[in-house]
Amino acid sequence: MTDAGTALAAILRKEIATSGPMPVSAFMARVLTDPDHGYYTTATPFGAQGDFITAPEISQLFGEIVGAWMVHVAEAIAAAMPGDPVHLVELGPGRGTLMADILRVARLRPDLDARIDVHLVEASPKLRETQKATIAKARPDRVAPNWHETADTIPEGPFVLVANEFFDALPIEQAVKTSDGWRRRIVTVENGGLIFAAGEPAHVPTQFADAAPGSILETCPQAVAIASGLAQRMTRQPGVALAIDYGYELPAIGDTLQAVRRHKPCDPLEHIGQADLTAHVCFGALARAAIEAGAQAFGPMTQAQFLGELGIAERAERLITARPDQRSDIEGALARLISPDAMGSLFRALVLTSPGMSTPPPFTQAAHTG
Ligand SMILES: C[S@@+](CC[C@H](N)C(=O)[O-])C[C@H]1O[C@@H](n2cnc3c(N)ncnc32)[C@H](O)[C@@H]1O
Repeated sequence: MTDAGTALAAILRKEIATSGPMPVSAFMARVLTDPDHGYYTTATPFGAQGDFITAPEISQLFGEIVGAWMVHVAEAIAAAMPGDPVHLVELGPGRGTLMADILRVARLRPDLDARIDVHLVEASPKLRETQKATIAKARPDRVAPNWHETADTIPEGPFVLVANEFFDALPIEQAVKTSDGWRRRIVTVENGGLIFAAGEPAHVPTQFADAAPGSILETCPQAVAIASGLAQRMTRQPGVALAIDYGYELPAIGDTLQAVRRHKPCDPLEHIGQADLTAHVCFGALARAAIEAGAQAFGPMTQAQFLGELGIAERAERLITARPDQRSDIEGALARLISPDAMGSLFRALVLTSPGMSTPPPFTQAAHTG
């Protein structure tokens, strides 16, 4: 498959010709966040005119339910730390729609609202502008949020964090099983186009030693490092983090790197910088990293169960009662969010908390880590 000649594809081909092949992780990072040509830096990805739609963009129902959960958790933390500000953090806020919905819910609890400061971790300067406008529209009374390149610069202090479809955008490493053992998967140039190939030997857990040739195993070191960093914070101060994404529970063979453009799948080596590139999230790896760093992990549970047990159907009914003319839109949005053949079962929710904190409902089960 060719790379269809985008500006970023030409730059990457030249770099590879000069410096050698790049691992899949470096390729994915450049495609998504290259400062001049990256997908999130330059594209307008969301909505019907864009490439994909996320849960908060489907309906306010999602943000209201997640917001009510965040506020409930934040109130418990605020009560335990009287006087301290509570950091409300979002990783990868997109258009800012989810944070705007959460802040609308927070306004209903003035004592908590007065103690919240907002921190957004966002790589794209363009999306930061959109987030600023969305949040200012929802809450003109609020001072501007604080933006961060990474979660590392969020100030110390009690926090509640949400990450919806953030971890799937982080660069993955892939290993490929060859007749010569496991090798790191790389991107290189052949006949003038970018291709995937097998690079240097790779170490994989022994359980995968006998995998069939062609098998692919993925890891996401950046996601694991973020989970570990948040967990370390949680050992120093009360903190809760909710991650919602599509993914799987325990490390398994499979190539989940996928590109989407204008709501249709495409080849990850085509439309480079002009198509979204994601990989499924290994929730067990996040949970394991968090537990090893001293935090607790619960779930994952399906998005349908998470939103369902928190009352999304009842909230939808109340909205329909208030706006009967919008019944079919609201019912349609609810189905997209929770039905098993839409986002209900593929998407899951995982929560990390400080050690000793009581299990945040609706979670009941500690995470599986393999
Ligand atoms: C798929 S969007 C999800 C947006 C939003 N959470 C939603 O549900 O609509 C991914 C978001 O993560 C941001 N992002 C991607 N990679 C990032 C990185 N390495 N560091 C910070 N933000 C990143 C993107 O710019 C975008 O805001």
